[in-house]
Amino acid sequence: MCLVGNMTVDVSGERLARELGISHSRLLRSVNKLRAIGVDIQGEPFSGFRLQRLPDVLLPGLITPRLHAGKIGRAIHHLYEADSTNGYALDLRMSGDAGHGAVVIAEGQRAGRGRRGRTWLSEPCAGLYMSLVLEPDISCALAPLLTLGAAVAAHDAVERVTGLAVDVKWPNDLLVGQKKVCGVLSELQAELDHVSSMVIGIGINVNQERFPPELEGRASSLRIQAGVPQSRVELFLAFLAGFERLYESFLSEGPEAIIVRWTEASSFAFGRTIEIDDLVRRVRGVTEGLNPLGALRIRQQDGTVQEVYSGDVLYWE
Ligand code: BTN
Repeated sequence: MCLVGNMTVDVSGERLARELGISHSRLLRSVNKLRAIGVDIQGEPFSGFRLQRLPDVLLPGLITPRLHAGKIGRAIHHLYEADSTNGYALDLRMSGDAGHGAVVIAEGQRAGRGRRGRTWLSEPCAGLYMSLVLEPDISCALAPLLTLGAAVAAHDAVERVTGLAVDVKWPNDLLVGQKKVCGVLSELQAELDHVSSMVIGIGINVNQERFPPELEGRASSLRIQAGVPQSRVELFLAFLAGFERLYESFLSEGPEAIIVRWTEASSFAFGRTIEIDDLVRRVRGVTEGLNPLGALRIRQQDGTVQEVYSGDVLYWE
């Protein structure tokens, strides 16, 4: 972080290695790793290294000083590459190396997980790939509300940082210009009816310039939609602050704030004709808001109302 504190100034390799408490060869390896992910570090050990401008890299040293004083983000595990940040966070949790509030961020994922066994394309340094470890003292029935909360926090962060108009497609996809720019995957560890821990994984397509043909019609990035590159660091900070607020209000006052905010953010809350597959059945009808546990109410053609907690939207208009 010596370079961040001395922007555009040459700092000798010797001083950097000394202050970081590492060998010269380790310093060189670290500099090369940072260069490989796009950090603009000029120079060499003898003349000194120089950071040209603050990089949009999610290094804890850049992020931590700007974090709000909450519990979420107290421990940040930054990886240049992971199979899946959700998998990594689950392993850390199982081995006792991550407690409530730990956040895993990766610059890229080799095997990013999507909902229902799908994959999540995770181009290195282009997207935001992160997982939060939570230990809420709640029943399993309330867990989906935290996933809705993550979608709301991502919605608010993207709107605030990019100025784009964002919709939340039920239950937790973010759409910009009818294309998906963000998804949420929650994985639960539970005992009977009680949540022992939960990993919430959020993937945001930030600076991708193109998508493979099979995704092009459905997926997009904030950069494509806004026409200019966007800051992953600012999105991360805004997301974490917003999610922490919703999480605290959920624990102290119950689900209402999440339900109200989700309803304001999503055009799917009311009056949409929709068909959902929830793995047990297909429900088709017109949406009538969320129930107090966060399930989507759908009025079917015969006048009855079904409440759906999770599923895939097969059709909407
Ligand atoms: C979806 O299918 O919409 C959910 C996608 C969730 C992707 C994120 S990226 C970070 C975290 N790690 C994963 O392997 N998946 C989630």
